[in-house]
Amino acid sequence: MADLDDIRDGREYGVGVAQRTDGFFLKGSNNLDWGMKDRLSRIFNPATGRTVMLAFDHGFIMGPTSGVERIDLSIVPLIEHADCLMCARGVLRALVPPTSRKPVCLRSDAGTSILTELNHNVVIDIQDAVKLNASAIAVMVSVGDAATEAETVANLYQAVDAGQASGIPVMGVTAVGKDMARDARYFGLASRLCAENGANIVKTYYTEGFEKVVACCPVPIVIAGGKKLPELEALDLAYRAIQSGASGVDMGRNVFQSEKPAAMIQAVGAVVHQGLKPAEAFQMFNDLK
Ligand code: R5P
Repeated sequence: MADLDDIRDGREYGVGVAQRTDGFFLKGSNNLDWGMKDRLSRIFNPATGRTVMLAFDHGFIMGPTSGVERIDLSIVPLIEHADCLMCARGVLRALVPPTSRKPVCLRSDAGTSILTELNHNVVIDIQDAVKLNASAIAVMVSVGDAATEAETVANLYQAVDAGQASGIPVMGVTAVGKDMARDARYFGLASRLCAENGANIVKTYYTEGFEKVVACCPVPIVIAGGKKLPELEALDLAYRAIQSGASGVDMGRNVFQSEKPAAMIQAVGAVVHQGLKPAEAFQMFNDLK
């Protein structure tokens, strides 16, 4: 029988003090369920609203490209400086220490390599993302590519359904359609399409007029770094994206192909979270290096 004698009358009811009802810090995410918000809060730093994702999923289409030949040697030492890890499940299981305690944005579509036509992809079973404790799943959409657009939009849609059911946010990854101009009009369309189909985060590319791309996308945008640039130019890219309203970066080659990857990811982090100007961040890179 329960010990009723040990139930003390409560006294601190705070009568007259309204219970706080805070909005959620992340654009377009206020109406999500608790689990989704919890996962998004692991990816995006609630103090700044931004994230530095370290992308090293390149091998799933490119194989052992420069910088990811040995994830254990090149990427694992960078993990401590990242807010979130973006990779495919094979590398995650084989090489990323589960003791890293970093959120994972799991690359969740598969199907083709750079040797054949890209983007005829399928989405992995959400249960595998659950088992891997993914904080988000990433699915590519090729807007403007007649051969694969419908298939990849359907993949995103299906991933959002599965993600919603398990409380896992979905990141829509905009792959540039073959015949599309890489301009704000195109990236605005592609990003909006991802968000309208339910993506909770959009990954796209920086371009002139990016503030319009961000403004008309109802969920946070992170930018990919793209091909390796000189460090100052990559920091400038990150700076301009953040100043245009991006919520962070999902950067790979410009970090792991850098002369000093650990210095580079820290300099990128200072741009993203502290708003350092490119020249200041480049100085930081040189000092750390
Ligand atoms: C592209 O689909 C890959 O998912 C990469 O994760 C993405 O492009 C970011 O890497 P990078 O900064 O090297 O472009």
